[in-house]
This record gives sequence, structure tokens and C-alpha cells, in this order.
Amino acid sequence: MPQVLKDRIHEKLMAKREEIKAFLGDHGDKVIHEVTLKQPYGGMRGIPALVWEPSLLDPNGGIRFRGYTIPELQQMLPHHPRGSQPLPEALLFLLLTGDVPTQEEAKAVCDQLLARSELPQHTVETINCLPTDTHPMTQFSIGILTLRQNSQFAKAYMEGMDKTDFWAPTYEDSMDLLAKLPDLASLIYRRTYGKPEPDMPDLDYCWAGKFAYLMGFPNFEFIELLRLYMVIHADHEGGNVSAHTSQVVGSALSDPYYALSAGINGLAGPLHGLANQISLRFVLDIKEKFGGVPSKHDLRELLWDTLHGGQVIPGYGHAVLRQTDPRYRVQREFALEHLPEDELFQIVSLLYEIAPDVLREHGKAKNPWPNVDAHSGCLLVHYGLVEHEFYTVLFGVSRAMGILTGLIWARGLGFPIERPKSFTTEFAKENLV
Ligand SMILES: CC(C)(COP(=O)(O)OP(=O)(O)OC[C@H]1O[C@@H](n2cnc3c(N)ncnc32)[C@H](O)[C@@H]1OP(=O)(O)O)[C@@H](O)C(=O)NCCC(=O)NCCS
Repeated sequence: MPQVLKDRIHEKLMAKREEIKAFLGDHGDKVIHEVTLKQPYGGMRGIPALVWEPSLLDPNGGIRFRGYTIPELQQMLPHHPRGSQPLPEALLFLLLTGDVPTQEEAKAVCDQLLARSELPQHTVETINCLPTDTHPMTQFSIGILTLRQNSQFAKAYMEGMDKTDFWAPTYEDSMDLLAKLPDLASLIYRRTYGKPEPDMPDLDYCWAGKFAYLMGFPNFEFIELLRLYMVIHADHEGGNVSAHTSQVVGSALSDPYYALSAGINGLAGPLHGLANQISLRFVLDIKEKFGGVPSKHDLRELLWDTLHGGQVIPGYGHAVLRQTDPRYRVQREFALEHLPEDELFQIVSLLYEIAPDVLREHGKAKNPWPNVDAHSGCLLVHYGLVEHEFYTVLFGVSRAMGILTGLIWARGLGFPIERPKSFTTEFAKENLV
């Protein structure tokens, strides 16, 4: 069965290569965008400069994984027989191939990941050598690098390989990595926070289920939440810091371990993956300051104080999205079903009622609506995963699915090394205006 997935990817890659060749033959010289001087100074916003096949971000509809929205995928992707949330393994199959898997195909991905999941001893020893107060993201990035010892891509490249075959060992490395990330992340969780090694029951657990068990959360509702979490964070097209960083590094034919570790370092930034931790801190501070859920008046005042203090409202705004993030919506639906009385959720809800108006009145943020990070922390806290610094690692385990799919496809489509042109302000003054 593992070969079935690999063969399917191969078939899709071949077809896409031909499609792109014909497309570029017909339209390769067409001008697709004009770049204004302020765009390179402004984080390259809005310049269509990358090709990323696994997903596309629609400013209004949110992320589409291979063309499907998150609510559509909640309906279409296989679930665990006893659950209602889509299986992350099913999403991985979709990202890798563009096809919605059957239950059996999703199960085969799950089995393949479980079979490859054991961590090498040197990885465990390296992680165990680090001071326990090393940030979990630092441990995660180091742990990923230790795994490259077994990189099939690096080995095959050194032995000599036709470049049309680069994608195949990239795929093998990616599957090895994805299989091991929950084990690596839970090792980091247990040692950092002094949690015991769990007894693993003899269950038919899947990727997220095993992850939950390994962290010490065998509650089925939490496992369902983790499945949802893993699905919604899996990819967000190619221009975000972590995906793009991995892509640039991978374009130098650095193997997937180097590439993912680099992307994870970007995910550790406060404006990217760390934002969920900061958002939760913001909500917890509100709870502490007001001794519970504040009045609307008090919350409005606090938001204005935050903005007047030159700070952002965490979890609100987005570089591309221009509506409430559907990833926020599905988490809200989960909370309304499972934890409507939770005080933190009620503060998160009240923020949703008030913050968009305040941000609109403030007039700076192009998008006054909440993003994914405004919600996830309160759900995790509800089930007892209270170690905020660890949240970005959870995000990283999920995001690895999109990042690694992007790498496999970039190698399969023969994308070259990235090398955009930069310029100095002096050069721009003399030559560009
Ligand atoms: C996500 C984020 C980094 C996008 O940045 P961006 O693309 O530059 O956003 P915008 O183009 O809307 O920014 C325009 C202005 O609005 C401000 N702004 C954007 N979101 C804001 C927010 N949530 N609170 C206050 N101000 C905000 C920006 O700081 C910027 O101000 P400046 O002109 O003084 O530099 C930004 O919205 C932000 O910092 N949000 C809070 C952190 C967060 O939730 N990050 C998670 C992202 S998934």
C-alpha cells in the first residue's frame, strides 16, 4: 500500500509537468503583474512570485487545500470511525496527490506513518542533553536536524541521481519526518514539563491519536480537537514565512530536514507561529485583570489602551485574509459544541464581538477580523494542555504537512534554485524611478 501513494504522486507530478510545460509554451512571456516601488519595501505583499500547488489562500473565502475549503473538507475527508473531525492523514493524502482519499487510503497513510515513527537513539540523546529550559521550538528545530543523519535525499544525491528523480527520496525523507514529528514533539513536551512516559494502550490509534497519547492526553474529545488542529494548520499557501523559508532552503537542494528545520525557525517568530501563544496570554491577562469575563465597556477600553500603547491586538488581522478566518470559525464551532460555558472561550467570543469594530475605527489594520491564532489557545487550555510555549510546536507538526508537500512538488516539478533580485535605495533612485 505505501507504494500506492508514491505511485499516485508520481502520476500526478508527470501530468502537472506536462501541463506546466504546455502552459508556459502558450503564455510564458505574458506579463502577470506590475511591481510598485513600495512593494519590495513592504514585505513583497501582493507580488505573485511563487508557485505553490498544495493550497491557495482566497482573501475572502480563506484557505483552500487543493481547491477545497475547510468546511468542505470537514464533510469530505474520512473521519476516525468513532469521530467526526477529518483525519490529518487524509488531508496529507489530499495535499500530496490532489485526490480525496477513501477511508482505506487514509488508513494506509496512517499505517505508513506509524511504521516509520521510531526516533533514532541519537535524537533522543541529543534532545535529552539540552537544558530543560531550552525553548520547545529550539528543541524541535534541533531534533529535526538530528534526524537528517538518515536522509535518503542527501545520500542519493551524493551517489548521483537524475534530477527528474529528486522528488522520490524527498518524498521518503518527508514521510519519515512526518512520521517522527509527533514522537519528537511529545518527547520535548514530556521532558520540558516533567510529564511521565505514557503507557500506550494497544489501540488502533492514528497519527494525531498517538500524538495525544504520547503527550499524556488520551481523552477522545481532545484527540478530536487535535485532529481538527492538525488539519486547519497544515498549510497556508507558499508565501508565509515558514513555507517560503523551507522552500528557499530546499531550492538549494538542501534535504527536507535542513529545509523544514529552517522553516520551523521562522514559525517561532511572534508575528507567525508564536502568535497563538501571545493571543492566549492576552486572553488570560484579560481574565486575570477583570477576575473573569469583563463587561463590553471594559473590554473596549482595554482594546483602545492596547492600541494607544502602540501594541497590536493579538490574533486579529492578516497579511492576505480579509474576513474572519475559516480556521477561527471551525474552532469556534468546536467550542460552541463542547465547551460553551468555558470562561476563556467566553472572553474569546466577546473579543470577536468587539475587536473588529475597534480595529475598524482605529483604521490601520487592513483586516479587522480574527485569524486562526485568536482561538486555538483557549481550546488547548480547556483540555489541560496549558504549557503555552509548546503551542508553536503543535503548529509546526501540523504545518510540516504543507511544507513538505510543497518541497516534494517543487522537486517533482523541477523548480530551480530561488534567486530574486535585490537592490539598494541608491540604485532605485538612480535607475527605477
Ligand atoms: C498578522 C499581521 C502581522 C499582518 O500584518 P500586515 O500584513 O502588515 O497587516 P496590515 O497590512 O493590515 O497592517 C497595516 C497596519 O495595521 C496594523 N495592524 C495590523 N493588525 C493589527 C492588529 N491586530 N492590531 C493593531 N494593529 C494592527 C499594522 O501593525 C500596521 O501598522 P503600521 O502601518 O503602523 O505598521 C498583523 O495583522 C498583526 O500583527 N496581527 C497581530 C498578530 C497576529 O495575530 N499574528 C498571527 C498571524 S496568522
